[in-house]
Parts: sequence; structure tokens; C-alpha cells
Amino acid sequence: MIKGKATPAATASYAGRFMGLPGNFRKMGELAASSLGMGTYLGEMDRETDEMYRKAAKLAIGGGVNVIDSAVNYRFQRSERSIGAAIKELIDAGSVKREELIVASKGGYITFDGEMPANPREYFERAFVQTGLIGPGDLVDNSHCMTPRYLAAMLEQSRANLALETIDVYFLHNPESQAAAVGRTEFMRRMGLAFELLEGKVREGAIGVYGTATWNGYRVRPNSTDYLSLQELVDLAASIAGPNHHFKVIQLPYSLAMPEAFTLQNQSVRGEQQMLSVLEAARALRVAVWASASLLQGRLTARLPTVVADAMEGLRTDAQRSIQFVRSTPGVNVALVGMKSAAHVAENLETLKRPPAPFESFMKLFTKA
Ligand SMILES: NC(=O)c1ccc[n+]([C@@H]2O[C@H](COP(=O)([O-])OP(=O)(O)OC[C@H]3O[C@@H](n4cnc5c(N)ncnc54)[C@H](OP(=O)(O)O)[C@@H]3O)[C@@H](O)[C@H]2O)c1
Repeated sequence: MIKGKATPAATASYAGRFMGLPGNFRKMGELAASSLGMGTYLGEMDRETDEMYRKAAKLAIGGGVNVIDSAVNYRFQRSERSIGAAIKELIDAGSVKREELIVASKGGYITFDGEMPANPREYFERAFVQTGLIGPGDLVDNSHCMTPRYLAAMLEQSRANLALETIDVYFLHNPESQAAAVGRTEFMRRMGLAFELLEGKVREGAIGVYGTATWNGYRVRPNSTDYLSLQELVDLAASIAGPNHHFKVIQLPYSLAMPEAFTLQNQSVRGEQQMLSVLEAARALRVAVWASASLLQGRLTARLPTVVADAMEGLRTDAQRSIQFVRSTPGVNVALVGMKSAAHVAENLETLKRPPAPFESFMKLFTKA
């Protein structure tokens, strides 16, 4: 396993090598994080796709992207293994230092190992039930588990797949999917147990900080069964670890087509009556925000209305404009983009040569002509 974790000095030194990318690096806590991050969710579970991801990660890291996001279940663990291979090659070649990279992964979903087993039910029984990893009542929607025992095992698996001693950001993966199934009180009890485990893993050096990677949780109204209150979760972390807790990053979908993080006031901070957007709440609570699905899974890469080109000036393609929109949004630290093709990496990196759009240009997209 490669030792070390992202450090303020090394991430700043990485940023210093990309002076031609104005406004690319932002503070995430004490670290310098690139505004474009590489996602690794989509794709086939085969060797060809592994190779594409391995090469794409090397290109992205070589071009000014020091944030990589994965999850143990992405492509049945193959994405983590491809990223681990890319990082090792770059470090061995002396092109990058471990401490310059911010590597994230997630646990919560059941995963197979590299391929779909011939008999998935038998595999599940053998790998998860007979080993005692998942007990009665632990599994929700036949797919999700966040008991401390299960999360600890998944974290170990991710560290092994990535071959990294420390994962910089460890996310609970779509935890809100449990809220609807088990009710709010039991959900918060489960979150508390998970946070307790993760604070312990920070102390052990297995992770740097932790957070919640979500789909609906922060984008829905407070009366929705799968709503997440950022203040409640920050309070929960503080009740476990005090003011210096490590619940420091959230992830939610955000794009031209899913703008709720910016437009929906669904968060109350410090008991205030006035509701804030999750981006405003995160800023107030000193939690970083990573936007996922910045291209709506590839659907925001062509035929965008001309108003987008007017607002996101100086860019060549609609994919670049969509990325520019996300990274120009006040409060977004990182725009995650899935990119396994070398051509897409090159196209997306070009975006970083432009500074983020000024607020007045950005707001053209929210005002009637
Ligand atoms: N709940 C969660 O935790 C959650 C949910 C969703 C996503 N995420 C994270 O966020 C990351 C980004 O989201 P995503 O991968 O779902 O969707 P996305 O970033 O919106 O879109 C990825 C798709 O866009 C394509 N693409 C990339 N650059 C392009 C370009 N310049 N022109 C045309 N197509 C382009 C990619 O193709 P190629 O791959 O072929 O290059 C891929 O098919 C994920 O990979 C994952 O790490 C987290």
C-alpha cells in the first residue's frame, strides 16, 4: 500500500505547476483541490474499460486534476483498481506525489468482485451473510447497508483496491435511501453509528475526512422522506467528535439540468427561520461541496440553448460550457465529471484554461431575457 495522504503543502505545490489554469484550484479545508474532478461511475465491467480509466486518470492528473472520485461498487470494484494502478504508475515514474492527490471513495452499496457472479444470490449469501457482514434487518432495498461492521469491511476493500493506506475523503454512499425505509429516528441512529466508525477511521489514519455522497437527500424539500438536513448531520458529527469533527464534504448532483443546490432553499442553519440553499448552508457550516453528474451523465454535451454559450463565454463545446457552469457556481468546490475516454479528458481539461465565469455572466442563466 502506498503511504501518505493529501497535504496542504503538496496540493499547493501541485497547484503551482498549473499556473496557466486561472481559478482552477480552490481551498478545501487546508488543501488545494482542482475545480474539475474525475468521476469513475459509468462503463462496462471489462478490461478495455479498465484500461480506458487507467489512461484517462493519468491524463487528467497530468493536466491539472488532483481530485478523483470512486466507490467500491463502481464497476464492481474495477474502477478503484484502475485508479489505483494509474496512481501507482504516476508515482513510480516520479510524475506526481501521493500527497498531491485528493482521492475519494464511498461505501454503502453491496458490490460484486470484478464481474457478475453466475449465481448472485449464492454469492451474496457466501460473501455477506455467512461471513456475518450483513445481519437480519441491516439491508435496505436489497442493496444498501451502512452498519459499522459493513462499512469497515468496505473501507478495507477500497484501500486494498486503490492500494492507498489513506483515502482522503470517504463518503457514505446515498445514505438517504435508508431514511424512507427505516424512519427518521432509526435513520439518525444509524448515521450516528456510521459517523462514530468514521471518526475512528480518521484517528487510525485510514481516511482523511468523511461525508455524504447523495442523490436526493440535499435536493428535496424538508418534508420528503429522504431529505437530509446538513445542520443536523454537522451537529451529529459534533456530538460524537466535538467541534473538530471530520464531517467535511458532501456530494450531490448539480448541473444545468439539476440546479437545486443553487435554486432550492431547503436548509435551515443554526435554527434560523430563513431557509438557505444547500450551497449557502455548506458554506456557513464549513462543509465542502462536490457536484456530481455535472454533465447529466453525458446528456448536457450537445444542443444546449444559445444563452448558455452567451453566459459561459470563450469555450468551444457544450460539454465545456456545462462544466464551466458547475465550476462557476458560488459554493461549488469541485465539478465531478465521469471521463474514461482520452478525447473527453482533453476536451474537458481545455475548460480549465478559462477562469470560472464571473457571477454576472453566471446569473444570465437565471434571469429572464
Ligand atoms: N450518488 C452519488 O454518489 C453519485 C451519483 C452520480 C455520480 N457520482 C460521481 O460523480 C461523477 C460524475 O457523474 P457521472 O459520471 O454519473 O456523470 P457525468 O459526469 O454527468 O457524465 C459522464 C458521461 O459524460 C461523458 N463525457 C465526459 N466528457 C464528455 C465530453 N467532453 N463530451 C461528451 N461526453 C462526455 C462520459 O463519457 P466517457 O466516460 O466515455 O468519457 C460519461 O459517459 C461519477 O463518475 C461519480 O464519481 C456520484
